[in-house]
Amino acid sequence: MKLDNREVLPIGLGTWHMGDQLAKRNQEIAALRTGIEQGAQVIDTAEMYGKGNAERLVGEAIQPYQREELYLISKVYPWNASTKQLPISLENSLKRLQTDYLDMYLLHWTGNIPLKETVAAMEQARKAGLIRSWGVSNFDVSDMEELLDLPDGRYCQSNQVLYNLGERGIEFDLLPYMREKHIPLIAYSPIAQGDSLGDGLTQQKLLQEIATAHQASVFQILLAWCIRDGHTLAIPQSSDQEHTISNIKAAEIQLTKEEITLIDKIYPTPTHKQRLAVL
Ligand SMILES: NC(=O)c1ccc[n+]([C@@H]2O[C@H](COP(=O)([O-])OP(=O)(O)OC[C@H]3O[C@@H](n4cnc5c(N)ncnc54)[C@H](OP(=O)(O)O)[C@@H]3O)[C@@H](O)[C@H]2O)c1
Repeated sequence: MKLDNREVLPIGLGTWHMGDQLAKRNQEIAALRTGIEQGAQVIDTAEMYGKGNAERLVGEAIQPYQREELYLISKVYPWNASTKQLPISLENSLKRLQTDYLDMYLLHWTGNIPLKETVAAMEQARKAGLIRSWGVSNFDVSDMEELLDLPDGRYCQSNQVLYNLGERGIEFDLLPYMREKHIPLIAYSPIAQGDSLGDGLTQQKLLQEIATAHQASVFQILLAWCIRDGHTLAIPQSSDQEHTISNIKAAEIQLTKEEITLIDKIYPTPTHKQRLAVL
């Protein structure tokens, strides 16, 4: 899939809840490095995660690699997304990540600072070479419309939202809108937080059968389903090397049309507007 005209593996590495426990640090760094060595380029983090701890962890994990081979995404809190504060947040994120640019900087969710001001701050950072591109997160259709009505809104390169087999609400209106505007989707919580969001996906017989047919796990099928249109990046988070390897390998799984139709019968695409699901 392409993010800001750059081809990247459609599975990246999430980092929420990472970097907080000293006892898990080595394991988490090993998981991220394994992900990179398996071919992932995108690492998704945020100033929010562990109050900077996740960015610090990523900064350490990426040390052995060429910076250009990676695609680093971080996010700014809505209340920091002003022309005055965004450059400060960005500078702090860059320091923690031990890098001098981000590949993409996202507004984490909508807030009270006028979008126009946030876009101006993002554009300033982009022109200064501190970020290669910017986008948004947790934006519903009306938010996207407001953004794209702004003269520089057209530079938005992504919307990162909750999307997994148990949460297909965006397929009704947000996803078609983003497709029409050529804005790629970054799917967060693509495996429903290890199937702990209450949908019982891993217990579903059909998903188990499809997994067996592909000699894969149900989690891999969930990821393959998520990225099936070729324009979606999924960012599963794992602190486990084996899980990370299997998550990255899911990029190779092609679900058949028949399998997708069978899945649709059990987890139908929405037929009416649903409020944007967020975590
Ligand atoms: N923009 C936003 O507002 C927003 C919100 C939420 C998340 N995000 C981003 O999206 C990323 C992913 O979402 P998420 O962390 O909420 O949930 P997720 O990736 O759907 O699930 C993570 C959980 O799944 C487990 N897991 C991962 N791979 C597995 C596998 N192959 N087999 C079994 N268990 C597996 C992990 O445990 P193990 O460590 O044991 O593998 C972890 O507990 C976040 O880390 C963050 O970067 C963004």
